[in-house]
Amino acid sequence: MISFDQEKHVFHLSNNKVSYLMQVEEDNILSHLYYGPALPSYSNLRKYPRMNRSFSPNLPDAQNRLFSLDTLPQEYPTFGSGDFRTPAIQVRNEDGSYALSLRYDYHKIMNGKPDLTGLPQTFGENSETLIIFLKDSFSNIQVQLNYTIFQNLSGIARSVQVHNHSIKTIQLEKVSSVSLDFAKEDFELLHLPGGYSRERMMETTKIPYGSVKLTSNRGASSHHQNPFFALTRPHTTESTGDAFGFLLIYSGNHESIIEKDSFDQIRTQIGISPLNFCWELTPGNSFQAPEVLLTYSNHGLHELSSTFYEIIENHLVRSNYKKQERPVLINNWEATFFDFDHARLARILDRAKEIGVEMFVLDDGWFGHRDDDRSSLGDWFEYPNKIAGGLNHFSQEVHDKGLKFGIWVEPEMVSEDSILFQEHPDWILKVPERPAAPGRDQFVLDLSRQEVQDNLYHQLKKLFSSIEIDYVKWDMNRNMTDIFSQRLTSSKQGEVAHRYILGLYDLLEKLTQEFPNILFESCAGGGGRFDAGMLYYMPQVWTSDNTDPVSRIKIQYGTSIVYPISTMGAHIADVPSHQTRRNTSIETRSHVASSGLLGLELDLAKLSIHDLNMLKEKIRFYKENRTLIQFGYFIRILSPFENNDAAWSFISKDQTECLVYYFQTLQQPEPAFKPLKLRGLDPNAIYQNESGEISASGAELMHLGIWVNQQKHGDFYSFALKFKKIGEINNEHTNDTLGK
Ligand code: DGJ
Repeated sequence: MISFDQEKHVFHLSNNKVSYLMQVEEDNILSHLYYGPALPSYSNLRKYPRMNRSFSPNLPDAQNRLFSLDTLPQEYPTFGSGDFRTPAIQVRNEDGSYALSLRYDYHKIMNGKPDLTGLPQTFGENSETLIIFLKDSFSNIQVQLNYTIFQNLSGIARSVQVHNHSIKTIQLEKVSSVSLDFAKEDFELLHLPGGYSRERMMETTKIPYGSVKLTSNRGASSHHQNPFFALTRPHTTESTGDAFGFLLIYSGNHESIIEKDSFDQIRTQIGISPLNFCWELTPGNSFQAPEVLLTYSNHGLHELSSTFYEIIENHLVRSNYKKQERPVLINNWEATFFDFDHARLARILDRAKEIGVEMFVLDDGWFGHRDDDRSSLGDWFEYPNKIAGGLNHFSQEVHDKGLKFGIWVEPEMVSEDSILFQEHPDWILKVPERPAAPGRDQFVLDLSRQEVQDNLYHQLKKLFSSIEIDYVKWDMNRNMTDIFSQRLTSSKQGEVAHRYILGLYDLLEKLTQEFPNILFESCAGGGGRFDAGMLYYMPQVWTSDNTDPVSRIKIQYGTSIVYPISTMGAHIADVPSHQTRRNTSIETRSHVASSGLLGLELDLAKLSIHDLNMLKEKIRFYKENRTLIQFGYFIRILSPFENNDAAWSFISKDQTECLVYYFQTLQQPEPAFKPLKLRGLDPNAIYQNESGEISASGAELMHLGIWVNQQKHGDFYSFALKFKKIGEINNEHTNDTLGK
């Protein structure tokens, strides 16, 4: 899969899907040649044209005015010696200069992937890695570029390590995990911005001249900007067009740069955000930047997403549960908030059992003296009488009813009103002599400190082993401020935010390895840390605190651009919605929530028998189709970002079953009749829906479609259609494949 042409000095990474080409050029500069559809061979066609350009500096030694870094596409560019675009790396030397001239030194090719100690990362046996060492021969700083290519996948994992082989300390002010230059091409930018309760609102925009910066500097990957973007051709659809995806496998501050230069060339970068970042690299030490997953599709967004799904599900998530059906749960948060006692929980539990729920999750408020959100974070044990009979007893009660038991924790935080804070007030992120900013009345624990990690590890280990716990929801409800560790010297304060994430990863590694039978769900005020880093430790994420189905359609659709259905928690909640005050039917709420990992989050004891029966039926249907939903092919059909309606489907891997959900936002007066054209079916199969009303070939369902809007149903209407293959047509004319 990886070769080096000694004559042309060209590296070629390729499999049956993609090729990636680089060349060692004049003065050992490493240039970027190509990334795109697989090439069987390469004849040096892309060698960058040489041209004398005004104002373009030349290399110091080359008496060659035709060669300049000014416009050359490069693999890991630096600033200050001819390239005026954004550098991939910025280093401050001891003498105060920022000089760094990286030149190809040597390379290695290995089977598999080197380990990125302490960081989440993809893995896979059928992979090969190219390691290129670049060196600044003046300072002896070495930059190691790792490129892993997987068999049969249009995905390449890249990462970067910086080694200080000099005798002087340097300050790393920026280390991008990827820099990738594209020649003049027509691209748009697709990304996932958002906010609390409206995460991952997919946006596609033109790329202007200059640079677009997509960042989170909140100490978390954030609700506001997912660490992902893609370059797409204008008019890319679900099934047509080129798309290049970039996904940072990291949960902290991040920055993506999309820069269009005056020659219409595009430079892209993604990595740790340089704001407030500075890593002191002493002689003999190395810095490892997080990994990035590059994916490519020449068949539109569906293929881009499927590649992400495949890599996330098979080469990133490690949990025992990754291939297991996830239980239908009830979570008491929106049912009770902090207002619960044993009797109230028991009433919900009884009803939950009656309607087929499989797991009871006790959310915030079970520990310390936490009766509201002002106290007890940090004290991960129960006070006597918080829940009559105690937590252990309640867990037994849940298990006796045949349900699993789950619990909520928010380990990274501390309340001022807690024993932990009284004993260790210096364990929070805080600048000495200045007040720290509270958020939700809580402070962020300094996870860069070993003793903080150890304390949390011991408390949680005790909790997870003293009570029968099957599931843990790991929450995080504020962003980082006052980023200062009282343990580190002044020259290391720029490392705190990253050290925090490394500390978090260490803690998660220990706990998830030690409790492999616990199903962990990551959460950060909903989807404030829905990223590939967290998925390495926990196989699923609470997608959003917004449980209103109309909002959720967009949130789940946007999330699905990168993350598979098997990672998305989705719950049926009460009406009017706590987040939007909107009223919607149980039907619509359950259709949206059943498009993810289904849960309930409402007080069942307050529901009518009619509503309970409806929920019971929805849960039965979900369980019947659970494998299809959680592990089938997910296909987006109509985008809520473009239409007044949305639709998606789940198709079994053998194409014999298909479940379609259609959602209308607002009812239009005298609406147009609209055919809903399915996708991903076997064109030669005959499919029939459950009522038997529709019976047609896959080709007809895909090309003619099903009429929708035949009646006025009102706002927020939705329907589900389940098809099964009931036969085959023998017809050679039809020829369609999945996703087209
Ligand atoms: C934020 C989470 O997203 C909610 O689901 C809930 O667990 C609350 N925190 C509890 O404080």
